[in-house]
Amino acid sequence: MSDHEAATRTAEAFHAVYGAAPAGVWAAPGRVNLIGEHTDYNDGFVMPLALPHTTVAAASARPDGVLRLHSGGADGGVVELVIDDLRPGPVATAGWAAYPAGILWAMREAGLPVGGADLHYESTVPTGAGLSSSAALEVVTALALNDLYGLGLDLQRLARLAQRAENAFVGVPCGIMDQTAAACCTDGHALFLDTRDLTRRQVPFDLAGEGLRLLVVDTCVKHELGDGAYAARRAGCERGARALGVRALRDVPYAHLPEALDRLADDPVVRGLVRHIVTENHRVEEVIARLDAGETRAIGPLLTAGHASLRDDFRISCAELDLAVDTAVAAGAVGARMTGGGFGGSAVVLVEEGDEKAVTTAVTDAFEAAGFVPPRVFTAVPSAGARRLV
Ligand code: GLA
Repeated sequence: MSDHEAATRTAEAFHAVYGAAPAGVWAAPGRVNLIGEHTDYNDGFVMPLALPHTTVAAASARPDGVLRLHSGGADGGVVELVIDDLRPGPVATAGWAAYPAGILWAMREAGLPVGGADLHYESTVPTGAGLSSSAALEVVTALALNDLYGLGLDLQRLARLAQRAENAFVGVPCGIMDQTAAACCTDGHALFLDTRDLTRRQVPFDLAGEGLRLLVVDTCVKHELGDGAYAARRAGCERGARALGVRALRDVPYAHLPEALDRLADDPVVRGLVRHIVTENHRVEEVIARLDAGETRAIGPLLTAGHASLRDDFRISCAELDLAVDTAVAAGAVGARMTGGGFGGSAVVLVEEGDEKAVTTAVTDAFEAAGFVPPRVFTAVPSAGARRLV
């Protein structure tokens, strides 16, 4: 669907729900992460790219301090909230509405002059697939409110407000990668982000020009344990940093990894976490060096090595992700790895143009033979970040 079609459809749906035309329409994309996994809460490096799939919001300001939320994809009617009553924790805002409500709360907490609004959402970002549908929802809401109330905030600030909403209002201890990807990615590029100082660089990622394709394999698995396990990994990394006397694991140089691991000899779990983070930051730097040198194919083995590290050291893969990666590589993929938080969700697979079908079939057949739910496979094109459509 083009931006124009998405905007028209969403504006029409807004009109049907609220009885008037919206003041504007905005979009924010889902993402996949190319490399740099679980590094973002260790002050490290990440390299996501935006998907063509977007969450689109049609919205108008309201003068009465009421927030009304409606989604074309969710069951139930309009969620109506009084903005003065918004508090973090299990309030009236359960489910998807917690994300946009959290944005309004975070903006007000930051002292920004925002009031009520009517919002209607339509989304093509698959949910529960590890493709950051929640960050898309947060960032599109932040951008809409930014424009409706003339706040003049830049995209990175909006991303930070979105992370604050997710951490403090929704209660998910995520890093800054997904929100920055949704806000700041650009067409045809992967986004290199240093999550310590938030400096970023758009790295050209011209797959088509190189005769390559990036497939996304959604395993359709969402592990119940995911959230607690994410927090546990995060706490383990912090333990590792304390044990090594550094501010964050980002500060352990790759060249000093052997000594660091020696010092952690009596804590094998934390040792594995540290080894993953330090080698993963190094892999991000290697990927950038190869992309800068125009050697896109050469990033393949780094992606696959990243998967092994997430599987064996960070221990957040699952049987479906491992099968997707192993089968894709055996079927000729240039490289493959799980992407996102782990315990299910999606894998990214770099393939030669023309091999898409063979690799997809191999993975689908392997899932069938293993008795797994059929995966959903699509091609990712590095796409634009958040934007106003109308
Ligand atoms: C989730 C989080 C991100 C990041 C990834 C793992 O997507 O929201 O902040 O930690 O997991 O790289």
